[in-house]
Amino acid sequence: MTIWTPDIEHRDGPLYRAIADAIATDLAGGQLTAGERLPTQRVLADQLDVALTTVTRGYAEAERRGLVSGEVGRGTFVRGGPPGAAIRPDPDAPLDLTQNHLGPWSHAQELADGIVHMATRLPGAGVIDYQPLGGTERQRAAGALWMDRAGLAAKSDDVLVTNGAQHSMAITFATITNPGDTVFTGKLTYSGMKSLAHLLRLKLKGLPMDREGIEPEAFERACRAGPAKALYCMPTLHNPTGVVMPASRRRHIAAIAAEYGVPIVEDDSYGFLLPDETPLSAYANDAYYLAGTSKSLAPGLRIGFLLPPASMVDRLKAAISSTTFSIPTLMGDVVAEWIFDGTADRVMAWKRSEVAERQQLAQSLLGQYDDVSHPMSQQVWLTLPEPWCTSEFVNQAAMRGVLVSPAEDFIAGRASPPHAVRVCLGPIADRGRLEEGLQVLADILSQPPEPCRVVV
Ligand SMILES: Cc1ncc(COP(=O)(O)O)c(C=O)c1O
Repeated sequence: MTIWTPDIEHRDGPLYRAIADAIATDLAGGQLTAGERLPTQRVLADQLDVALTTVTRGYAEAERRGLVSGEVGRGTFVRGGPPGAAIRPDPDAPLDLTQNHLGPWSHAQELADGIVHMATRLPGAGVIDYQPLGGTERQRAAGALWMDRAGLAAKSDDVLVTNGAQHSMAITFATITNPGDTVFTGKLTYSGMKSLAHLLRLKLKGLPMDREGIEPEAFERACRAGPAKALYCMPTLHNPTGVVMPASRRRHIAAIAAEYGVPIVEDDSYGFLLPDETPLSAYANDAYYLAGTSKSLAPGLRIGFLLPPASMVDRLKAAISSTTFSIPTLMGDVVAEWIFDGTADRVMAWKRSEVAERQQLAQSLLGQYDDVSHPMSQQVWLTLPEPWCTSEFVNQAAMRGVLVSPAEDFIAGRASPPHAVRVCLGPIADRGRLEEGLQVLADILSQPPEPCRVVV
């Protein structure tokens, strides 16, 4: 029988916490199931070559988080963990690599406990009431701190708290555009922007991109050719290509936008993975900067922070009141506290090291097809070799149990999509399963396409 051995090498923080984190990760990934007995403390200490007291503290921390229970004389047993966590992934279910987020796998239980703990401490009346438009003072102060860390000076009054990045985009474009207007984006763009353009009856004009993002010359040509109400862009870790725009190009794009009076809507949803990048908005004089917690913390703990030009705050508050009125108070308060007490920082630090390792793994298997993704991108962008076409590849991968997204999902307007797919590295907790899936993709690409069903 193999002994369960936690992977503690690649984790931040003290060793005892790494053991508890590993229990949480393996419970979420299905390597541990409810009722299972963990190795004795002495056996695990020998196995990991750590002091017995480290394992004792690790198990105690796991017990505090509700992951395990100790029974005198019998040992330490895995408990149910967070709802659904003990369910082993169905081995026959496809491996879905289409959702672009990385679960906070090693912190899931800690976050769940944090919500419960905080819910009991928050002042009842505040939680029950309607909230001020754009968030409470404390939530907005947390947003200002977030902006400050991103490199943007903001006071709490300047920041609006929204229901996520998508909501920030919706209220921004609903406020600054009219039906029929054109918005510039990269030739490839976030599919949520495409969908929003349909909702608001906007036209998207996709601009050529290279390995540094949107090409400034193309942006300038487009500005000269016709008016546009805004430029929507993702300079840091562009979705879907994982490209990062260098500072010199950010300045150049900002200067062109200023010259032609085009506001910039900067989506920095993945900026937390590269905290040293200065946002494009820092160079711009008319910018809407948005970020959120669905990627940086977890999709279920989702709020957004929007930093618009000061003159637009009231109009955007009106748009918030027309759409959602306020965010769920509890979520806003919990996230604000996590930003102040450092919990959010710890989760993001863990994500950075996890993303870097997953990207390395992906490059070792598929690197020959991806020459654009940044080492800190949580996705890879595979340019399919001849004679593969995107739909054939997506179908063959699905037949072999791996789901990926075709380039067409990201193409702005009616331009022809490249023969490429996006593969997300984050949505599967178990890295071993992810590796199997990536290997399947590499195997498929190492052969020519198989004959497929003929359409007559
Ligand atoms: C670039 C980008 N912006 C916005 C979003 C939406 O984020 P949220 O969940 O905060 O609305 C996503 C989600 O995939 C995204 O990739």
